[in-house]
This record gives sequence, C-alpha cells and structure tokens, in this order.
Amino acid sequence: MNSLEYNNGSLFFDGISLETIAKKIKTPFYIYSEESIKKNISDYLADATSETLFCYSVKANSNISLLKLIASQGMGFDVVSKGELHRAIKAGANPKRIVYSGVGKTKEEIAYALNNKILCFNVESEEELYAINSQATLMKTRANVSIRVNPDVKVVTHPYISTGMKENKFGIAYEDALGIYQKAKKLDSIDIIGIDFHIGSQITSIEPYLDSISSIKNLITKLEKNDIKLSHIDVGGGLGISYENEKLISKQDFIKMIINSLTDLNLNIIFEPGRSIVGDCGILVSQVQYVKESKSKNFLIIDASMSELMRPPLYGAYHKITPVKKSNHSNKIFDVVGPVCESADFLGKDRELNCQSGDLVVIEDVGAYGSVLSSNYNTRPRPAEYIISNNEVKLIRSADTLDQIIENENC
Ligand code: LLP
Repeated sequence: MNSLEYNNGSLFFDGISLETIAKKIKTPFYIYSEESIKKNISDYLADATSETLFCYSVKANSNISLLKLIASQGMGFDVVSKGELHRAIKAGANPKRIVYSGVGKTKEEIAYALNNKILCFNVESEEELYAINSQATLMKTRANVSIRVNPDVKVVTHPYISTGMKENKFGIAYEDALGIYQKAKKLDSIDIIGIDFHIGSQITSIEPYLDSISSIKNLITKLEKNDIKLSHIDVGGGLGISYENEKLISKQDFIKMIINSLTDLNLNIIFEPGRSIVGDCGILVSQVQYVKESKSKNFLIIDASMSELMRPPLYGAYHKITPVKKSNHSNKIFDVVGPVCESADFLGKDRELNCQSGDLVVIEDVGAYGSVLSSNYNTRPRPAEYIISNNEVKLIRSADTLDQIIENENC
C-alpha cells in the first residue's frame, strides 16, 4: 500500500506512526487515508467528460464520513438498499446522481427511492419492472429505468464475486432483454433511460468489459430498430486492486479504453466503482494476544477476527499482514487467527512473521468490504473507524458498546 512506510523500523500510515496512534486507540480498529481516497478518485476523473458519471458503489464502504468525502470529490452513488440510499442522502448526495441496483428491491424501497427522485433504477427482472411501474403509478409519478443485462461473460475472479454469467442471479438474460425493453416501453409510468451491466468484482483485465460492451452494442442496435432510445450506458464497477502484487490495468487506461469503445454510441457513461476507490486506502490495526507454537503448527492469535474482517474465510481472500515494528530476528511460519470460536476464523495462513505477544500488526487493503461485512458474532463489538485527514487522526465511527449490541433485545 502506498500510504504505508517504515521509518526507523516502525510502520507509518500516511506519515503518522502507528505505534503512536495505537497508544491512544484500542485495537482492533480500522483506519483510512483521505489522501489515498482522493487520489483514487482523481485518477478516475482525470479523463472524465461531462458525459461520464461516476457512482461510487456504497456497499464497498458505507461510512457516512467517507460518503461525504467521496461526494465532495464529484462522485454520485450506486446503492442496493433503502439503508444505503438513506446513508447517501444523509451524506448530502444529489439524488440525481444516484442509481439503484439489486435483485430484490421491495415496494417500500422502491417508494423511498421514488420519493427521493433518484436518477434511475437498474432493473433486474421483469417482475421488478412491473413492481416499479405499479408503485410509480400509485404515487402519481414516473420512474426512470435502465435494464441490467446479464451479458454472460466469463470473468477471472472468485466465483462468489462473479455476477455476469448465466448461472448468476443478477440482471436479465441477454436473449430476454429486447423483449423486456419492449414491454417496458408500453408501461404507463416508466421512462426507459439506460442499459447497464456489472460483471463481477476484483477484475484485473479489460477484456471481459470489452466483450460485454460488444454484445451490449448489438443489443442497443436492436433497441434502436425498435425505436427505443437510451441516454446512458452503465458499465458497472469491478476494477480490482493489488492485494498480492497482482498486475492491474490502471484506472486511467481503463477509463480511456471504455470511453473509446463507446464513443460511436453518443451516450452518457456511468461507472460504479467501489473497491478501487477505497480498497487500498484502509488498514485494520490489531495486537498480538498470544503466540502459540507447537511442532506441527504455529499460531499468532490476534485481537482482530473474522467478525471484523470476513474476506479471508468467506473468499479465501489474501491480505498482507505486516508487523508495525520491524524485527531483525528470524521469521517463523504462522497462521494468523482471531479469538472467534470457528476454525474458519483466520486472517492469513502460512505467513512468515516475527512477532511476540503485545506486538501490533496491520492487515492491509481492507478499505473495501472490510468494516461493512463486520458483525457482532460472539458478541464482539464492531470496531471503531478512523481517518487520517490533513495529518490528523479523526474518529468516523465509534466501536460498538456491549449495551448497544444488546439494546434491541428483550432483556
Ligand atoms: N455495481 C454493482 C451492481 C455491484 O454489484 C458491485 C459489487 C459494484 C458495482 C462494485 O463493485 P467493485 O468496484 O467494488 O468491484 N464482498 C466482495 C465483493 C462483492 C461485490 C458485490 N458487487 C469482496 O469482498 O470481494
């Protein structure tokens, strides 16, 4: 990660000593770099034109302070629930820069989005289209829609985060899309404004996007023949980050290539990046509780767990684990595990480290799908979140208290 650097054998994040920070803050905690988030956004916006709209995918990290920061840098939002839309509105987002994706929008959620006059619904099934139409009719308003088409493109990523293949639940099958557009055209309260796809997450190459664009273009030609005119194409999110020194396409090249491949269409273009905005801007700081060594296996038992970071057990995801104090002693191989009562509770396997109990470690690249996937499993408080902004450490979410965890239960 760019914002992490050793200085005299001690790890600094955005120029501030993590040892110093951890003296004042209880571990485990998340901490983000404002500068890195801004840099990721400006990399995306460098070649943006007035026809491009970037809608940050709120699910990646929905902390309201981060949403405010992201909105202030010129981004709109992609939401998938009433809750995410509520957060975006609270963050001061312009509803005309919000798109709403997701396969299971309820009537209540549709009504909330219509009330807030969002830019458009990304429709994922025929029944959902009718539900949106009925709700809009009931509310005597009109709904802008884009049909999410499943382009059936294979993506090299973890199967749980690939979304653009026939067997995935997302979007409308390519061969059914024209029919759905024709039906949508006849509905009283629907305005068709776009077409969209999202093929998966942690994608490291441009090819699956270009393949999808080529089949979507064929579809757009058919729509035009049927007198269905669009004003935008939404290419989703999905661009990956480097967790383990993966080779990536740069944001600038990605945007240039997508824009080039779409110029002949004369449509506005929407992007929905999530991970690539915040993923490499956050770390989880944790303290080693115990070192447990035996002939067959060594464990570093740290105070962070799967309840703070689900990605390793859920996807077998790799996150670098780096000691805050560099050691000159020889390393051993450890599984880095948490205190949760599950064998799946690991943050890293077979890591070469030299740590003693009491040492601090950093789990890297957890800005996306980190805190949002955390839970209170084992009645563990969700951790606090901080941001480094203008050389200052600012609290942006307090850790749960035990009373908060149980407050909704009948005691
Ligand atoms: N748009 C839609 C419709 C999506 O479903 C997603 C992510 C995005 C945009 C943003 O994709 P991104 O740029 O972040 O790749 N929890 C998993 C990732 C799930 C992604 C779900 N959809 C993980 O930790 O890897």
